[in-house]
Amino acid sequence: MLPQPLGQLDPGFFLSFEGPEGAGKSTQIARLARRLEEMALPHTVTREPGGTPLGARVREVLLDPQLTIDPLPEFLLYSASRAQLVTNVIRPALDRGEVVVCDRYADSSLAYQGFGRGLDAALLRDITAAATGGLWPNLTVLLDLDPRVGLERAAQRGQPDRLERTDLAFHQRLRQGFLELAGTQPERFLVLDGTQPASTLEEKIWEAIQSRLPDSRG
Ligand SMILES: Nc1ncnc2c1ncn2[C@@H]1O[C@H](COP(=O)(O)OP(=O)(O)OP(=O)(O)O)[C@@H](O)[C@H]1O
Ligand SMILES: [Mg+2]
Repeated sequence: MLPQPLGQLDPGFFLSFEGPEGAGKSTQIARLARRLEEMALPHTVTREPGGTPLGARVREVLLDPQLTIDPLPEFLLYSASRAQLVTNVIRPALDRGEVVVCDRYADSSLAYQGFGRGLDAALLRDITAAATGGLWPNLTVLLDLDPRVGLERAAQRGQPDRLERTDLAFHQRLRQGFLELAGTQPERFLVLDGTQPASTLEEKIWEAIQSRLPDSRG
């Protein structure tokens, strides 16, 4: 049975999806968006890097297999995209009381550029705080997966992009990084085993969202 429409949220609800390549983020976001539509709950779905015209251009640069980008400029490019996204898309949608669903957010930088590429965690946090104005999600769904499974899934889509071609050890550090981040903020993170069927994950994510939406939502 469908719950009653929840009306407008004040001050909005910010949800991010994290996890390695091929973990199922896009799959779950599409399923969640269908549910939000069915409930007539105002929402905005966006992604990193991207989500704004600047972000789309930055995304092309970051995913270009022809380019070699050092860890610091890589992080700064992600941060530039993120800053524009927060200002132009995420904050305004939250101010309108919407559910904002973001495919990757700042945790990806902490995991990829910190645990993956070895940049200093304090530097990442300072620049991230500046780029986001200190905005963190109300809930972050971490789809955890052995990177070999994720890369195998991604490979079935065709040409690997720049990140997918990075070595397995990098992806293993990344996985550990995400799990460590989740361990330090268990109240914000929902960690799910990404090998479960998509429909099972969809149910668990939906339950977690419902239990965390403000009480005023009926
Ligand atoms: N729970 C699941 N079980 C098995 N396969 C899945 C599951 N969820 C998604 N897939 C498949 O795995 C592949 C990757 O899924 P998806 O694109 O949703 O991952 P992603 O996390 O968005 O990846 P990326 O980081 O590359 O954007 C797709 O082919 C998708 O159909
Ligand atoms: Mg995706």
